[in-house]
Order: sequence, then structure tokens, then C-alpha cells
Amino acid sequence: MKRIVIFASGSGSNAENIIRHFQAGQLARVEMVLSNKPDARVLVRARDLGTSAMYFNRTALNEGKVALLLEALNPDLIVLAGFLWKIPEELTRKFKGKIINIHPALLPEYGGKGMYGMHVHQAAIKDRKEKSGITIHYVNEHYDEGAIIFQASTPVTEADTPETLATKIHELEHRHFPIVIETLLNEQ
Ligand code: GAR
Repeated sequence: MKRIVIFASGSGSNAENIIRHFQAGQLARVEMVLSNKPDARVLVRARDLGTSAMYFNRTALNEGKVALLLEALNPDLIVLAGFLWKIPEELTRKFKGKIINIHPALLPEYGGKGMYGMHVHQAAIKDRKEKSGITIHYVNEHYDEGAIIFQASTPVTEADTPETLATKIHELEHRHFPIVIETLLNEQ
């Protein structure tokens, strides 16, 4: 059984979708959900599904405690699902090729520091883009710059608001993210 660890900062609809997907099969399990926000809904969602969930602070991330925990968990894949802090270089080096992120835009557009969640959708609407989408990519030491694994797009219409675009993007994420994770685990 392969082992997945999820990092998330917010609501956790992707985390929940991934946990459920793998609970229904034999390939992998989400061993733990880790969050940098003590009151993040993702922690509740994970525990409700019987998955361990833990909060950590910036010191734990940057001074090695999270690294020690990850070594003990020994994950085959670390999945960032709406995680908003930068991953320290110690971790990108130690888990090279094993950390992936989902970004709610067609990178390299609308990536980098400060570009997350609704900010991305507001920017795409403001620029009157004809399409937006999702990017799943490897995580390296730079925000949103690791090698792209998968992209899917959706039209942006005149009628779209940041909220309706966010809904379309979440649908794409929920449809594709577990399958991409499954494919990567099968290829290992
Ligand atoms: C997702 O849309 C994800 O792509 C985005 O945060 C949202 C989390 O939703 N991630 C980023 O913006 C990372 N830069 P969720 O908490 O419902 O899974």
C-alpha cells in the first residue's frame, strides 16, 4: 500500500476528495493531513474520514520537526492541496520528485507569491482571459515553477465572476487530481 501525506491550509475540499478516492481502492492511503492553520476546516474533514490530521507552526516547518515527522511517515507522495506556505529547501531536496502541488491557473500564468485561491480568479477575470484551468506540478525551491505534470482548462465567459470561475476550477481539480496522483503512484 502506497503512502500519501497531504499538506493543506484551508477548506480542504481537494484533500477530502483525495482521501475518499483512495479509501475506495487498494493502491494507497492518505496517512496524514498536515495544516499550518490550527482552525482549518481540512483538519476536521480529515478526522471525520478517520484520517490523522495535525497542525504545525512555521518553526516546526522551517527548523526540522516537520521533516522528522515526514521521515517517520515515509510517504511515497507528498501532495500540496491548497497549501499556502513555501516548502523549505531541506524538504524539496530530501523529497525530490515526491512533492506535487495543484495550482488554480494555467501556469506559468498567475503563479508566484501572493497568487493563490480567489486572487488568481480575480486576476484572470480582470484580464478578460478566454480560458483558465488547473496545473499539477512538481514542487521545487521556487513558488509554482517545478516541472508541469498535468493541465486542464475551462472557458472563462463574460458572465463569469471570480466565484463562478472558482467553482469551475474546483470541479476540474476534483475530477483530475486523484487520477493524476494515482498515475504517479503507479509509475513509481
Ligand atoms: C484550490 O483551488 C487550489 O488549487 C488552490 O487552493 C484551493 C484549495 O481549495 N491552491 C493554490 O492557490 C496554491 N497556490 P480546497 O481547500 O477546497 O481544496
